[in-house]
Amino acid sequence: MTPHKIALIPGDGIGVDVTDAAVRVLQVAASRFGFALQTTRFDWSCETYLATGRMMPEDGIETLRGFDAIYLGAVGWPATVPDSVSLHGLLLPIRKAFDQYANIRPHRLLPGVTGPLRADGFDILCIRENTEGEYSGAGGRVHQGTGNEVAVETAIFTRKGVERILRFGFEQARARRKHLTSVTKSNAQRHSMVFWDEVTREVAADYPDVTVSMMHIDAMTAKMVMAPQDLDVIVASNLFGDILTDLGAAIQGGLGFAASANICPDRGNPSMFEPVHGSAPDIAGKNIANPIAAIWSGAMMLDHLGEAQAATAVMAAIEGATGKGVGIRPGSHGTAAITAAVLEALA
Ligand code: IPM
Ligand code: MN
Repeated sequence: MTPHKIALIPGDGIGVDVTDAAVRVLQVAASRFGFALQTTRFDWSCETYLATGRMMPEDGIETLRGFDAIYLGAVGWPATVPDSVSLHGLLLPIRKAFDQYANIRPHRLLPGVTGPLRADGFDILCIRENTEGEYSGAGGRVHQGTGNEVAVETAIFTRKGVERILRFGFEQARARRKHLTSVTKSNAQRHSMVFWDEVTREVAADYPDVTVSMMHIDAMTAKMVMAPQDLDVIVASNLFGDILTDLGAAIQGGLGFAASANICPDRGNPSMFEPVHGSAPDIAGKNIANPIAAIWSGAMMLDHLGEAQAATAVMAAIEGATGKGVGIRPGSHGTAAITAAVLEALA
């Protein structure tokens, strides 16, 4: 039996708390379903940055290349390291170097969880472009510190990048309820988003079984609040998807339930799995963080590794715990109690 080699990067803050919880659950799932997860832990974090001047070693990407998947807790400790340094030193280079262009974020209510909306029958899969667009990093500043200062941040949309994320979205829609909403803003952004719409129509022609809507980002935020049950798969650019997935987290009951996968679909590089919530320094190490988003992200990792049955069992265990009222409201249960309830449901 060849073990799955997993690089663990707990990172900062509650990233450490929830990674420990997720790994415990995943290891139990592995032994129950007869496979092995061989984990290697890397202490890359803001603490590492303060000690060494780098978030990860110079050969960090090369080191990660040898793994089947990467599991990441959270990155950021803004009191000592600016987020613009820590994120660009660890999380973002991994997404880009490994061409993890599809950021997948599921938004639905777990049993027992009441979100802020009256609607409860929604099941949305947000596919966020993860390597280019508004977060390409192209730009610069001139005349810094003067009254003539200029900052430019150029969004880059390539045919290759736009086409592949839409194609990925259509594949997901085909495997689900066969509806795709392409998030645009072509009424105002007449170059990039008009192009995005054109590519949407072109790719849609290859998927006649999938119905397509195009919706402007502003209307989309209203839709997600007023009628989320009408949505199935959403495909959005990097910035739009970033914003919509925090909204998605909110309607599913909060960031403690928001899981994500950064996928390199051709599997030429390892993919990375991480909860959406971030490092939450104020509650770090206090047995407060909800590990459900982290465990759910772990289930997505198992699925990606071909362990579909184990992934399904972990999801069922999460649902078993929340169905009994465990972890469904902030403060109702600690990290340890929620993890124990998931483990019990898995046993
Ligand atoms: C997320 C986060 C990151 C992003 C930040 C921390 C750079 O907000 O994963 O959604 O924008 O991608
Ligand atoms: Mn975000």
